[in-house]
Amino acid sequence: MTFRFALAASTALSVLGSAAAFAGPQAEVLHWWTSGGEAKSVAVLQQEFAENGGTWTDMPVAGGGGDAAMTALRARVLSGNAPTAVQLKGPAIQEWYDEGVLADISGVAKAEGWENLLPASIAGHMKCGDTWCAAPVNVHRVDWIWANASILAQNGIEMPTTWDEFNAAAEKLQAAGIIPLAHGGQAWQDATLFETVVLGIGGPAFFQKALVDLDESALKSDTMVAAFDQMRTLRGYVDANFSGRDWNLATAMVMNGEAAFQVMGDWAKGEFLAAGKVPGQDFLCASTPGEGYLYNVDSFAMFKVAGDDNVAGQDLLAKLIMGKNFQKVFNMNKGSIPARTDVALDAFDSCAQLSAADMAASSASGSLLPSYAHGMALYGPQSGAITDVVTAHFNSEMSSADAVAMLVAAVANSR
Ligand code: GAL
Repeated sequence: MTFRFALAASTALSVLGSAAAFAGPQAEVLHWWTSGGEAKSVAVLQQEFAENGGTWTDMPVAGGGGDAAMTALRARVLSGNAPTAVQLKGPAIQEWYDEGVLADISGVAKAEGWENLLPASIAGHMKCGDTWCAAPVNVHRVDWIWANASILAQNGIEMPTTWDEFNAAAEKLQAAGIIPLAHGGQAWQDATLFETVVLGIGGPAFFQKALVDLDESALKSDTMVAAFDQMRTLRGYVDANFSGRDWNLATAMVMNGEAAFQVMGDWAKGEFLAAGKVPGQDFLCASTPGEGYLYNVDSFAMFKVAGDDNVAGQDLLAKLIMGKNFQKVFNMNKGSIPARTDVALDAFDSCAQLSAADMAASSASGSLLPSYAHGMALYGPQSGAITDVVTAHFNSEMSSADAVAMLVAAVANSR
């Protein structure tokens, strides 16, 4: 009982002299988990919080990838009324820490031994200076292709292992009157597709240079031109109504046999599973072509708030998030794998097991890479600059050479 929770509770009790004065742990939780699979997953945390005496005030802000949620967060913090707990990840955690608004949850982290339960790469994202400032729930993999199993079988198509194979499969499907690629034309989805293409065409070292280090020679290289060429080719495989479509509706197209493939992180698997679909039977998963693994770790950061009840809520939430059973049940619903290294994966599906095996192999070979599209690699202005170019190219007739020139300029201006 070394947490702020215990301290806050005992302080409240001794100062106020009555148990009734301490209303128990409270948390207002800002997140963007509103699709079927996402809602089912976050419900696990809500339930555990309630079972442990907590009162959860839900603040869902719809919008895949979290752009709308982050806008809502800024407004709340600027008005001096931050939510107690916020779905926040990657360098954005550090950005908020630098603004001096994050709470220190080191008490929970130390008491629960997080240092020994997390891979160093994940722990690194959760620390700010000498303190722990966020709690990780999972590891999502971004570079996945999902497919409708019967469409592939009926058309004699295997899961593609190169982008050329993907293109050949797509041409065949298109000729048969099937939409090859279910895509939602929202900037973050374009970025998701783009980063898997950059990884597949350039390889892990190129991805690191271009989209993590922002090395100018990589950004303006012929390899980057080739990545935009492939984006143009993919643009030809989406249906006419793709613009603005939510990612989970694109997943539903694959599920319902309206489209063959979707390129999306494994939160898409959460949708298939929530609909009762079985991997290997109804749908197939494979990593997008090429080597490497793009990781996206969801986490919650606590904001500095007043009130012992709120502080107790933050500590309870942080403790539950890293709980062993929570990490198992939540991630089986969410499509991801646990952040904790000591959770057995026997009960997880085959795609999750592939994810864990590939993550370990990528970690060993140096090809475990942070997703730029999901806020794990870059600060907001830099990733935003790249995504603007990717979207502008995807939604116009812009040439690959022009896109590359625009990319180099946009990245230079964002520094
Ligand atoms: C990602 C997030 C996932 C999932 C997805 C779609 O950025 O990490 O948990 O929610 O957006 O909303």
